[in-house]
Amino acid sequence: MSVPAAPRHIVIAVDGPAAAGKGTLSRRLADHYGLRHLDTGLTYRATAKALADRGLPFDDEEIAATIAADLDLGHLDRSVLSAHEIGEAASKVAVMPRVRKALVEAQRAFALSPPGAVLDGRDIGTVVCPDALVKFYVTASPQTRARRRHDEIVGNGGQADLATILADIEKRDARDTGRTDSPLRPAADAHLLDTTEMGIEAAFDAARALVDTALER
Ligand code: C5P
Repeated sequence: MSVPAAPRHIVIAVDGPAAAGKGTLSRRLADHYGLRHLDTGLTYRATAKALADRGLPFDDEEIAATIAADLDLGHLDRSVLSAHEIGEAASKVAVMPRVRKALVEAQRAFALSPPGAVLDGRDIGTVVCPDALVKFYVTASPQTRARRRHDEIVGNGGQADLATILADIEKRDARDTGRTDSPLRPAADAHLLDTTEMGIEAAFDAARALVDTALER
């Protein structure tokens, strides 16, 4: 009698700059392969929001690390945390090594619990899950990303100025790529997906083909 193979634990890492389409791609991959999904940006956003809500400073590493260590990953409310200004505050909190250490620990625990997960962020393939089965680096030109973010805000009934959003995106890219601890960069073994021309649907098809190939190995 043959013994059925144990289900394989799969981790997929998706990194890239703000508004490149990694969230949409990650959710699609998680649905397709029956995996859990964690948008790790929400963990930095939730830390920044908790500090702001309590009137605490963004630059006190000890306080910020304590807040980060107390976060409950099961209660990250995207609808509240996705505000554009919270992303800006999150990138300030994200430069502090002790904050990163606390959040990376929780993110790794999430990745390790069955049946596996798709994690998206800035340092998943390089730091959080260096042994991920497949790694993607999703990018697009700053203009394309600013336009997408602008249309998303306007589509949700909000108001947005394209030039301001582009300036914010460029500022955030500089902070994320320039920090000392876990800067944004593609892992050496990441597959590059540039969504400027290809669009997110085509990026999903390309990503799925690469994951299928990795699963056959
Ligand atoms: O992806 P999102 O725009 O929500 O991330 C907000 C900020 O959190 C980023 O600009 C970045 O500074 C930080 N972040 C990070 N590492 C991650 C995910 C997000 O430093 N893995």
